[in-house]
Amino acid sequence: MTQEQPTMAQLDEVKAAVRALLHQPAYDDGSAGPVLVRLAWHSAGTYCATTKTGGSNGAGMRYENEGADPANAGLQHARAFLEPVKAKFPWITYADLWTLAAIVAVKEMGGPEIAWRGGRTDFTDDSKVPPRGRLPDGAQGADHLRFIFYRMGFDDREIVALSGAHNLGRCHTDRSGFDGKWVNNPTRFSNQYFKLLLANDWKKKVLPNGVEQFVYVEEDIEAEDGEGQPEELMMLPTDVSLLSDPSFRPWVERYAADKDLFFDHFAKVFAKLLELGIYRDATGRVVNEENVEDGYRSAPKKSDTATAPADQGTNQVGHEAGPLKEENTKFQARKNGAKL
Ligand code: HEM
Repeated sequence: MTQEQPTMAQLDEVKAAVRALLHQPAYDDGSAGPVLVRLAWHSAGTYCATTKTGGSNGAGMRYENEGADPANAGLQHARAFLEPVKAKFPWITYADLWTLAAIVAVKEMGGPEIAWRGGRTDFTDDSKVPPRGRLPDGAQGADHLRFIFYRMGFDDREIVALSGAHNLGRCHTDRSGFDGKWVNNPTRFSNQYFKLLLANDWKKKVLPNGVEQFVYVEEDIEAEDGEGQPEELMMLPTDVSLLSDPSFRPWVERYAADKDLFFDHFAKVFAKLLELGIYRDATGRVVNEENVEDGYRSAPKKSDTATAPADQGTNQVGHEAGPLKEENTKFQARKNGAKL
């Protein structure tokens, strides 16, 4: 479907629909927000400034090559959450919807207002889907963070500000191998992540699956969801590397001490992330080759039933409703103490 870029009024309707779906009592910590933020970040974080490839234009995660990248495990949940919005507003491109949903989610979870510009188109085939391996690996350290984020054009301060998104959500062993949440209230955007990084004595822990992460148990905090068991908080090796690196650490300290500064920097750097690889003319119109050729072309909604056309893998949107339901049930059972 090709049409002109959406109007502000149309976008307001989409934003309202995203707001309405954030509350998901049966999913994770009760909100779709964190995983929507991760969807937008991973759609944009493939950008390479040297080759000018990757980025959020095209919604490449609809295709097997990008969608089934192990780094994107779990993001089918975010895409499935957005399917009803796509069904209601079929004119919006997936690329715009995925990025717009994140800024709505951050705001609704108490975070800053983030500037967002529309006009991304959806790829019609996977020829421009970026290669796998461009997203960060949580098991690594500061050098790796620089390697990944400098490629996108970010500096050290921006790397720390972006990492502050780990105020939100959690790790899932069946997605990344890591386990747990960074802060006690993972559906509220704040600078708590930085405060906890500095305040706590993070100890290395080897999980039963062999994955190493850092943990801390706050003795006096009762889990909101268990029977009085304090829930262990976690940090990834990459998070902890922000403490030991002499260029990253001062920004951890500043963001821990000044929430407004963090919100201001996060809003700017997240807006920059979502614009990576999106080229615009003076009027703001996107002038990437595929946008000029095809206009604002929204891909049709994927079927919710698993019809498995040749280009679809198990991680693609058409297959996503089933696994989402299954995993929610498992998650709830785990929360209620069942051994799975
Ligand atoms: C600095 C390098 C980064 C690394 C190594 C990293 C790694 C990870 C890992 C391993 C998870 C857990 C995934 C899972 O098991 O479901 C995760 C979750 C998450 N990440 Fe990052 N990430 C990084 C940067 C970012 C950035 C830049 C953002 C956004 C600005 C972000 C936002 C999130 C969010 C919101 C979640 C929670 C998702 C959920 O609850 O399902 N991360 N990240």
